[in-house]
Amino acid sequence: MTDPAFIVGLPKAELHLHIEGSLEPEQMFSFARRNRIDIPFPSVEELRAAYRFSRLQDFLDIYYQGASVLREEEDFHDLAMAYFARAHADGVVHAEIFFDPQTHTSRGVPFGTVADGLLAGMKAAEARFGITSRLILCFLRHLDEADAFATLDAAEPWFDRIAAVGLDSSELGHPPSKFARVFGAAADAGLRRVAHAGEEGPPDYVWQALDLLHVDRLDHGNRALEDPDLVTRLARSGMTLTVCPLSNLKLCVVDDVARHPIAAMLAKGLRATINSDDPAYFGGYVADNYRAIAPLVSRDQMVTLARNSFLGSFLDDAAVTRHLAAVDAFAGAC
Ligand code: ADE
Ligand code: ZN
Repeated sequence: MTDPAFIVGLPKAELHLHIEGSLEPEQMFSFARRNRIDIPFPSVEELRAAYRFSRLQDFLDIYYQGASVLREEEDFHDLAMAYFARAHADGVVHAEIFFDPQTHTSRGVPFGTVADGLLAGMKAAEARFGITSRLILCFLRHLDEADAFATLDAAEPWFDRIAAVGLDSSELGHPPSKFARVFGAAADAGLRRVAHAGEEGPPDYVWQALDLLHVDRLDHGNRALEDPDLVTRLARSGMTLTVCPLSNLKLCVVDDVARHPIAAMLAKGLRATINSDDPAYFGGYVADNYRAIAPLVSRDQMVTLARNSFLGSFLDDAAVTRHLAAVDAFAGAC
């Protein structure tokens, strides 16, 4: 099995990380105190004990409640810096982070407070840790199309600092088709597109993400494996899948990490990557996710997963080439 030190040392990108999902319980209490906000848990231990989920919605309910302690630009800056410090310790050299503006604007926090705080944290993290990053604006799919359009409008002054739009939140009952027009508008504005699909939703939602949202990358995609034609389409097009093993375990997408389909994905020629999703809630950051699947894949496949993380990123070709060379040099030296 791949050595844990090799996993940490391997240069890697993280492509599926909800910054609000990196809010650790201790930090939640500290922001709550700073902003004089009540949280309905008496202690960090009791809050952590509530992190038992049997499906995506169980998690989302507590995740949105947790995000309510984030109010000021400084909170978003500090949240981002704390994530980047952990990611750096795990060997992440580039991260493309999601944020959910509607979770905050619906509480009266201006879009700019969120975006400027995160962008300041991203800049500071690059200076301190050398980690590069990109920002991805996610629409909450349980809200309606008009709300997504209003969010896209609010984001317009920041379009030069936002790499892509994404789609997250409650998947079942909220197919990608609901957002085809807003994704079209985002594409017209020059933004890339990603979407959560096939986490709980059926293969048809993955087809829709491809054909109606024209995604550049697919988040999760586990249930695509149920449809051989879809697997062929994903493999032939070189579509990147941002797979999140510990999230899959915690949200009961898989019942045992030993039965996680990562090896099957690679065997079918899918460009899978490993990511942490909401690390504060799912029991680990990116290296923990690589460690979780280490018994299922070879050392060469670990290297492939790290290579895929750069190939699937929104970095330019020169940067991708540089990172791939660093992965190969590290793997060759160990
Ligand atoms: N928002 C944060 N994490 C999510 C996940 N795993 N699926 C859908 N929406 C999310
Ligand atoms: Zn996610």
